[in-house]
Amino acid sequence: MDIEFVAASAAFPDKAAHALIVFEGQALSGRAAAVDQASGGAISRALSASRFTGAKDQLLDLPAPPGVAAARVLLVGAGKSDAFSDITAEHTAAQAYNAVKTSGLTSLRLELPAPGREPRAALGVRLAAYRFDRYKTKEPPERKPSVILTQVVVDDVDGALAAFSPLAALADAVAFSRDLVSEPANILYPAEFARRVKILEALGLEVEILGEPEMHKLGMGALLGVGQGSVRESQLAVIQWKGGGEVQPIAFVGKGVCFDTGGISIKPAEGMEDMKWDMGGAAAVAGLMHVLAGRKAKVNAVGILGLVENMPDANAQRPGDIVTSMSGQTIEVINTDAEGRLVLADALWYCQDRFKPKFMIDLATLTGAIIVALGNDYGGLFANDEDLAAGLLAASTAEDELLWRMPLPAKYEKGLESLAADMKNVGGRPAGSITAALFIQKFVNGVPWAHLDIASTAWKKPSGAPTIPEGATGFGVRLLNRLVADRYEG
Ligand code: BES
Ligand code: MN
Ligand code: ZN
Repeated sequence: MDIEFVAASAAFPDKAAHALIVFEGQALSGRAAAVDQASGGAISRALSASRFTGAKDQLLDLPAPPGVAAARVLLVGAGKSDAFSDITAEHTAAQAYNAVKTSGLTSLRLELPAPGREPRAALGVRLAAYRFDRYKTKEPPERKPSVILTQVVVDDVDGALAAFSPLAALADAVAFSRDLVSEPANILYPAEFARRVKILEALGLEVEILGEPEMHKLGMGALLGVGQGSVRESQLAVIQWKGGGEVQPIAFVGKGVCFDTGGISIKPAEGMEDMKWDMGGAAAVAGLMHVLAGRKAKVNAVGILGLVENMPDANAQRPGDIVTSMSGQTIEVINTDAEGRLVLADALWYCQDRFKPKFMIDLATLTGAIIVALGNDYGGLFANDEDLAAGLLAASTAEDELLWRMPLPAKYEKGLESLAADMKNVGGRPAGSITAALFIQKFVNGVPWAHLDIASTAWKKPSGAPTIPEGATGFGVRLLNRLVADRYEG
């Protein structure tokens, strides 16, 4: 999708849709009134033939109105003017795009009802226009999106371009993250994931890839145990962005299980294909590093990805096996399907041991239980630090990537006690997301830490935010980028 910022007086391209975003109760003011006049009252007539009021999520579509340059006019409701926000700007712009994307028209011109949020509207269109169509070889042209250019009307073109630049970097990063999540596991296995991250060095990132021999030397028995049943070599990707001088970095750690069969504790067949996106945490961290470099953020940040494949095999780890983690703590693997926490245990330990970060945030599609607890609109937030939790919640609301804080009650650790080792990797059925977080916390050594369980939000079924097409959401990239921008830069 090409984005342009243009003056209201700019000529329309051929085959253009003209979307007027309007406030509730003000559908016929401002530019809409001018278009109404030009069309000899076509908009007022359409309004009186409909229930359109400008309420949020409403749409009024006028194909081929007379007297106007555009082939189609759309009114998009933005709701009450005092509630208009960056997110509303994104959503209404995305709704306009979604309404015409396969119409056969080739461009979309957007006019907002108030100045200032045009770059956000452009971001909304970029996010909505994402598609993963690499493997669709037979899609008929009439089903492919036809709109390839979006023009956003502004007063100050240069100002809008400057404000859009970091948002364009964000849109690129979200698309990168969504691509990683969407790729099937036969294509995107740990070494391939690592290779795609290595390419990001072109943006100015430093990327190291550790293989199994290196991780063996470091004593990462927990992570390596998960990958041991796979013919694909486990990898640890260490990504650094040094945009902030000689200061302590902030750190992000992602669960990158490229496929999770459950291992010997194998999952049921139904829905197992979803487990190709069990690397959504690692994809979010990779996307974050992408945007930090893309917009040259003034911060030092580290991203660590634990990349493995969890397979059943003659060489796979067994229930009851005891592994020694890099921290020295031993773990009795009761259920080989509780593998994400084993990967994070070593990745987090490595992170704090090597980088002594200001804080660590891990992201993981960790538990089915978080979906039961929160549904698909919230990720679970666990934190040992109030300030970090507050920052994450604020960033979460600002970017509409919602989080809900969950407790970390020490007494629930009881469930993790093992007869033979320092701990078990599962804590029983109750509070499955919490015992998983408590397990991970045992590998955090006095560093402010937050854990985001994004099993609920990494993948979207139909319906929901218009900026998120069905499939991989890229959840986490926007939220973490906002956290960094608002609190840790400059
Ligand atoms: N990757 C899964 C969690 C998951 C489930 C993500 C559904 C997305 C959708 C994780 O590795 C897992 O299998 N967790 C188990 C833990 C259990 C064995 C304690 C689960 O949630 O059932
Ligand atoms: Mn699992
Ligand atoms: Zn998993």
